[in-house]
Amino acid sequence: MPWATWARRWSAEENRHDDLLNRSSYFIKDVGTGTNPYLITIYTSFQERATFFSHGNTARLAIKYGEEKLAQICGTIAADEKRHEIAYTEIVEKLFELDPSETVIAFA
Ligand SMILES: [Fe+2]
Repeated sequence: MPWATWARRWSAEENRHDDLLNRSSYFIKDVGTGTNPYLITIYTSFQERATFFSHGNTARLAIKYGEEKLAQICGTIAADEKRHEIAYTEIVEKLFELDPSETVIAFA
């Protein structure tokens, strides 16, 4: 069983690396919005659109190269990102209604 023990420990270590890199990106990434909810919401509406295109394009490339499973995964993520974009865009529209001055400054 030494091989099984070694393989589990190795996989667990690799998994910790994934977790660490994934979580640390939240703290390292500075998109310049600070804690301003207007900036965060407007930035995120564009970010969701970008990830929608990115995953959709990756899905199309995956289809082109015969990677159907990857295409399905990326297509699912792209669809999620589209829903996120719609939600954030609707929030930004509401901000423009409720507080046009602050929202347009943030948008600029
Ligand atoms: Fe998203």
